[in-house]
Amino acid sequence: MPSVVVLGTQWGDEGKGKIVHLLGKQADYIVRYQGGPNAGHTVVFDGKKFVLHLIPAGILIPKKICVIGNGVVVDPLSIREEIELLEKRNIQVKGRLFISELAHLIFPYHKILDAAREEAGGKATRIGTTRKGIGPTYADKVERVGIRMVDYLEPDTFARLLEQNLALKAHLIEKFSSVEKLRREILEQAERLRPFLEPFACDTSALLNRALDKKKKVMFESAQGTLLDIDFGTYPFVTSSNPIAGSVGAGCGIGPSRIGSVMGIVKAYTTRVGEGPFPTELKDDMGERLRKAGQEFGATTGRPRRCGWFDAPVVRRSIMVNGITDLVLTKIDVLANIDPIKICVAYKVDGKVTKDFPNSRSAQQRCEPVYKAVPGFGAISSDLKRFKDLPVKAQKYVKTLEGILGVKFSVISLGRSRDETIQMARKVTWV
Ligand code: IMP
Ligand code: MG
Repeated sequence: MPSVVVLGTQWGDEGKGKIVHLLGKQADYIVRYQGGPNAGHTVVFDGKKFVLHLIPAGILIPKKICVIGNGVVVDPLSIREEIELLEKRNIQVKGRLFISELAHLIFPYHKILDAAREEAGGKATRIGTTRKGIGPTYADKVERVGIRMVDYLEPDTFARLLEQNLALKAHLIEKFSSVEKLRREILEQAERLRPFLEPFACDTSALLNRALDKKKKVMFESAQGTLLDIDFGTYPFVTSSNPIAGSVGAGCGIGPSRIGSVMGIVKAYTTRVGEGPFPTELKDDMGERLRKAGQEFGATTGRPRRCGWFDAPVVRRSIMVNGITDLVLTKIDVLANIDPIKICVAYKVDGKVTKDFPNSRSAQQRCEPVYKAVPGFGAISSDLKRFKDLPVKAQKYVKTLEGILGVKFSVISLGRSRDETIQMARKVTWV
């Protein structure tokens, strides 16, 4: 089946943007199936840096068709900004980007409610969200009061649904803003944005199924990572959607039989933004060193990312729940000159050693990493093209990870740019 899912196996920011930009060359369609403008994909090419939030990273490859599926939550204002920014930088978006009519939209009141929830209980209940309104928008969808693109494009339907929502939420909104002011702002914005967005909206499920019928190659690009998944992540410190491969079908209207391979992106160490358990977190100089060397600052919020050693129970859980067929190792260059390098192979919970990531929220906080120390390697030149050109100790480090994870790497990334990559003998299975 000519389709592949590209997803993050940790807490996001594994380097999916670069990998989509690299392997997307072989795809015809590149599709987002969940998340929203909380995502930040950084892509560097020709010396230029692009940060994408809602639009698939595939937009940076000429002629590719990009799709925002129904599972994504779209902020009408920020999608327009993103489109305009790209077009200003000579990336053609019109005619290449299609947004599902069934995608739910984010409005200013969602952002107000997101921030209010973060502040309400203080540190104890704070998730550390991006405050982009993600949680409240998905909550409305499940509550069956959400407003979809298709509703937005019909002025009367939209006005009626907006009224309903403002009435339902007035008691909350009024603590922070005036309902009257919000109504005016949103309606005015809709008038201006509707003609801009209309040409992008369509039935993307039909579009994708037709493409697959014609044997077109489709790449599904996740946002966030498996440990931020609403079901399989470190609940409640998660995002409000399912980044796992199983949600591709629901997030863009294709059947599971149409999914070919599942590629997991693995960073050579671990990072997380926001609150929540992080067993291998380093709060010392080593954490600082990883943050500096890896430029680990949030692409959406600019927050410094928490950094720690590679955590095998986390990645093994991801391999399992996603049915991962291919792994890509990124940012191995960041570990240059660190000696020894530590790999968490298991956890100790209440004196017992386990290789599995625990589901209990208190165990997730209490578990102590069991480390295997491996010899470090010197600097890695980013222009190496073959695995055997890597320093022998770096090769050994990669092999050790493969042994611990039980899946082989298809690609090793040595830097931000597309050229700084080693393609392993084992080819990615969809090409
Ligand atoms: P939300 O998705 O804005 O609701 O935030 C929920 C949690 O997911 C917070 O810990 C965020 O920092 C985290 N998060 C959301 N999007 C990303 C991402 O693209 N990369 C890394 N963390 C993210
Ligand atoms: Mg990111």
